[in-house]
Order: sequence, then structure tokens, then C-alpha cells
Amino acid sequence: MPGHSSHYASAIELAAFLDGHPVATFVLDPDHVITHWNKACEHLLGWTMAEMVGTRNHWQAFYPRQRPLLADLILSGLDPRDSEYFRDKHSRSALIPGAYEAEDYFPNIGARGHWLHFTAAPLRDGEGRVVGAIQTLRDVTERRVAENALRKAHDNLEHIVEKRTAQLAEVNERLEDDIRQRRLADAELRRRNVELTELNAQLSMAQQQLVQSEKLASIGQLAAGVAHEINNPIGYIFSNFGMLQTYLGDLFDMLAAYREAEAAIAAPEVLARLQAMREEIDLDFLREDIPSLMSESKEGIVRVRHIVQDLKDFSRVDANQEWVWADLHRGIDSTLNIVSNEVKYKADVVKEYGDIPDIYCLPLQVNQIVMNLVVNAAHAIGEARGRITVRTGRAEGEQVWIEVQDDGCGIAPDNLKRIFDPFFTTKAVGKGTGLGLSLAYGIVQKHHGAIEVRSEPGAGTTFRVTLPIRHTEAPAEGATGAQP
Ligand SMILES: Nc1ncnc2c1ncn2[C@@H]1O[C@H](COP(=O)(O)OP(=O)(O)OP(=O)(O)O)[C@@H](O)[C@H]1O
Ligand SMILES: [Mg+2]
Repeated sequence: MPGHSSHYASAIELAAFLDGHPVATFVLDPDHVITHWNKACEHLLGWTMAEMVGTRNHWQAFYPRQRPLLADLILSGLDPRDSEYFRDKHSRSALIPGAYEAEDYFPNIGARGHWLHFTAAPLRDGEGRVVGAIQTLRDVTERRVAENALRKAHDNLEHIVEKRTAQLAEVNERLEDDIRQRRLADAELRRRNVELTELNAQLSMAQQQLVQSEKLASIGQLAAGVAHEINNPIGYIFSNFGMLQTYLGDLFDMLAAYREAEAAIAAPEVLARLQAMREEIDLDFLREDIPSLMSESKEGIVRVRHIVQDLKDFSRVDANQEWVWADLHRGIDSTLNIVSNEVKYKADVVKEYGDIPDIYCLPLQVNQIVMNLVVNAAHAIGEARGRITVRTGRAEGEQVWIEVQDDGCGIAPDNLKRIFDPFFTTKAVGKGTGLGLSLAYGIVQKHHGAIEVRSEPGAGTTFRVTLPIRHTEAPAEGATGAQP
């Protein structure tokens, strides 16, 4: 074929060139017949030039079944995008116009398979007609392996980072949880502490109250014992006294009769003895003085009887610490009598009692409140005689109140909020323990009542105790207990 001779000559030159070329290369003619298969190709693919040149078996070097290669597509003028084999597996060459590139893995090439990078380009004659296609193959296995390893390493790293991040988040969460719990525990602790402190305060209050009521109870017992012992003799002294007065009256009448009979006495020495005796004992004076002595003594006995009654009322040992329905006025009266010694030289006590019902209470303890308030009032009064007013009245909501007002020194505003504190006292060491009001406060609390104070320094102080007539646990009136 003479028309092909120049091609052939150039083909020979091309073959020499290609054989020396280190990149695996093969060339197809327009009929897809292999015209060149260089040494590098033989080496890489394991198929010899003799086996391949002149055949259309180039696919055999790559695939188990016949199929087109990139070079075949170029010869067929087919766009790889339209080929089922290369649709997503190729790219257009950036350097050579009309050339394509592709990369794939070939498990059957070499011992462990190979990654190959193809470049296929058309070969054109002077007029631009396609007279063949050239395809080069580069072994990119190492790169791919390195890439894979890198990707794997990268994935691994990412995985590790993810894991670590998750672990960190977990640790963080645990820490936060820990902190939260610690805060909770802290708050709980603080709350407990406050509770304990409160409890402690309550305890010491209770203790003081106990000590005080213990004292009261023993004083009450003593008082009751004494009262009981005195009560009997006073009883018969009192009744005997009545008899004695009658008898004395009779005796004086008798004496008067004797006196009248004196005129009839004949014996002068008898008469003289009678007159001398009468003068000696001053009978006229006796006649005047004895009745007044008698009535004074009677008054004294009446007073003793009162005191005994007050002692009994005050102590109420039989009903000690028992909730009963009680008449407050009786309790206040007996308490005022008990403290009268402390009060009578300093102040007049004025009672302004309202109309109040019996209330359900611990009478001995209510007496204790009144006593503490009245004694405080007396202490507040200075040199000049003062006045202490004890008032009672009925308040709204089934309550009664007791007021103790004095015109004494008053309480400084700074002290006002501390007077109910245990051991707060402005009195000299040994004069006051500072327990009176705290005790009163505790008793009022026990009765579900309230205690208030109004005071003006220099003008006086008023304490008001409000007590419920009955609190929730009280039985119906009259169900238990006697009057105090
Ligand atoms: N009527 C009052 N007028 C002026 N100050 C008062 C009056 N009542 C109480 N106070 C003040 O309140 C303080 C506390 O009173 P509280 O009765 O608790 O204790 P105290 O009288 O000092 O001692 P205690 O009663 O234990 O003997 C008193 O020291 C006094 O300063
Ligand atoms: Mg006091």
C-alpha cells in the first residue's frame, strides 16, 4: 500500500522512540488494531509486543472480558460521557485537546494488583484527520496506596478526635454533674447548719425554760406545802376567834355586872383590893383596847388566809403543767399578791379588767408571764412613785389580751429588738438574768399567742400578750380541769 509508506516509515521511527520511552504506551490504528506496544508496556502489563501488535486484544491486558479502552473511544469518536464504561470515571485532559484521562484499579495486574492512570489522545495527520490513538499508562499504585493510607490515617485520626471529643464531653458533663452535686451538697450542708444552729438555739431556750419551770415547780410545791400546813391552823384560829369575841363580850358584860355589885360589898378590905386591882390592870383601858386588838388580829388572820389562798392559786401543784380552762383574772390577782412586796413601795397597781371568758392554758405559766412583766415594770420605775396598770380585754378572733403598762424609764429603740433574747439584760450583774422576757416569749409561743411591746423612753412601756381562748388541741370548755 504505497499511500501508507510514509506512515510506515514514521511508524518505525515512532516504535523506536516509544520503546525507549519509560512510560508504558500503546498505539491503535483507526481500526483499533495495535500498532505499537512498547517495552514499558510489556514490563508493566506482562504482555509482549509480539503477542499484541497486529491484534485488537489490548483489552486482554486489563480486563477479563472484552470492552473498549479510552483509546477505543477516541477512535470511535465517542464522548466518554456517553460510554457506560467511562461515564463517571474519566476527565478531560487539561494539557492535550481531545485527550481524556482515567484511573482505575486492576486486581489482575502484577502480584497484588495495580492502580493505573491512563491518558489517551488522538493522533492526527497533516490535515487533522484522526489516524490513530495513543494511550499511556502510569502506575499510580504507590500514590493510591499512600493516599489510601493517608485517608485511613485521616479517618482514623478523625475517629480518634471524635472519640476523644465525646470522652471529653462526657468527662465535662460528669464534672458539671459533680459540681452541681457538690453545690447541692454544699447548700444542703449550709441548710443543715442553719437548722442545727436554730435547733441549738431552741434547745438552749428549752433548757432555760425547763430550768425555770423546774424552779417554779419546786417553789410551787414548797408554797403549796406551806399553804396546806398553814391552812388548817388558820382555819381553826379563825373560827375560834369568832367564838373568842363572843365569849369576851360576855365576860365584859359580866365584869360590868360585878362592878355594879361593888356598892353592895360590905367588907371594906375586899372593896379596897378590888379597886387596887382594877387600877393596876387599868380595866377601863382593857375594855377599850381588847376589842380593837381582837379586830386587828382578825384582820391579820384574814390576810394570812388570803395569802395562803394566793399561794395555793399560784402554785396549783395539783394541776402543774396541765392544760386546763382557767380564769385569767384569778391568776393575775394571785400573782399580783405574790409580787406585791416587790411592787408596793414603788408603784400603785391599777387593775382594769375587761369581760373575758376562761381560756384554755397552762395557768401557772400564764401567771409566770404576768409576774415577769409586773416585776420588770416595777424595776423600770425610778425614785418617784409610779403606776402599773394591768388590763385585760377581748380581742378579735376568739382571743383575749393582757396588758401591763408602766410609766417607768422606757426602753431604748436599740434595745427594743433584743429584749426577748435570752440573757439580754440592762440590769446590774446579779440583779437580772435577762431570762424573764424570753421565758414569757416561750410561754406565749406555746399558747399560740403573741407578745408585743410599745415603749417610749422616759414615758413608759406597755407589753401586750394576746392568747387564743382555745387553740386547736383544746377540748370543749369544761371537759377537763378545774378553775385555778
Ligand atoms: N417594763 C420595762 N421597762 C423598761 N425596760 C424593760 C421593761 N421590761 C423589760 N425591760 C428591758 O428588757 C430587759 C430584759 O428583760 P428580762 O425580763 O428578759 O430580763 P431582766 O429583767 O433583765 O432579768 P430577769 O427578768 O431574768 O431577772 C431588761 O433588762 C430591761 O432592760
Ligand atoms: Mg425581768
